Amino acid sequence: MEKDVEVKIYDTPAKLSKKAARQIAALSRQEGNHPLHVALSGGSTPALLYEILAGKYMDKTNWKRLHFWWGDERCVEPSSLESNYRMAMERMLSRVPLAPHQIHRIAGEALPEEEARRYGQEMASLIPFRDGFPVFDLILLGMGDDGHVASIFPGELQLMKSEVPCTVATHPLTNQKRITLTGKSINNARKIFILVTGSAKSHRISEIMNNKKAAQKLPAYYVEPVDGQLTWYLDVEAAALI
Ligand code: 6PG
Repeated sequence: MEKDVEVKIYDTPAKLSKKAARQIAALSRQEGNHPLHVALSGGSTPALLYEILAGKYMDKTNWKRLHFWWGDERCVEPSSLESNYRMAMERMLSRVPLAPHQIHRIAGEALPEEEARRYGQEMASLIPFRDGFPVFDLILLGMGDDGHVASIFPGELQLMKSEVPCTVATHPLTNQKRITLTGKSINNARKIFILVTGSAKSHRISEIMNNKKAAQKLPAYYVEPVDGQLTWYLDVEAAALI
């Protein structure tokens, strides 16, 4: 399969976010009227993108087709400042015309193992599957400065090959439990956007783009859609060492 990978570099996080928002709005307006399933990323990078979608792109986005999921969630209450759900609700989802059934929250407050199973069942009931894994129309990812994506950390690299669609992971520094899509769910997507900004991530980006040996320990290195498009959205700081 021809690898369809693009690397786009922008002067600022604001310009990067505007371009990504424009692509997401365009995706929502594509032919057809079947639901489009989008997995959101947590962390801080996508916050600006969410605000732009709910602002400048509010009227350019076909919200009624979109179903929002999460690539990962911290095992905390939805009201917690650490909640990826809370961040997305505040920045975007509470400000745009969505019905409750279009938002598929991971219950961070539930028992992790039980919630991972439940979330997998919810995906199986609503999202088309191929080879046992969901086919998201778009998965948004960030990347940690340790090269993690979603909540797949270097110490749990085996989750990139897990045979279940989502599972429980553990943050290596805080031991916080997380629910995360696994690598095969991520790589089954039609489109994957990885948004990375800031100089703190430039070494990892350089390893992934230029140093295969060093990159082999990084989960981000294994993001490779089996039949889809991967686009890296980088700002000049994150791309400084490519
Ligand atoms: C999370 C995210 C995580 C994030 C990276 C980058 O739950 O924290 O899903 O994978 O994308 O840690 O985070 P920043 O965007 O804050 O640098």
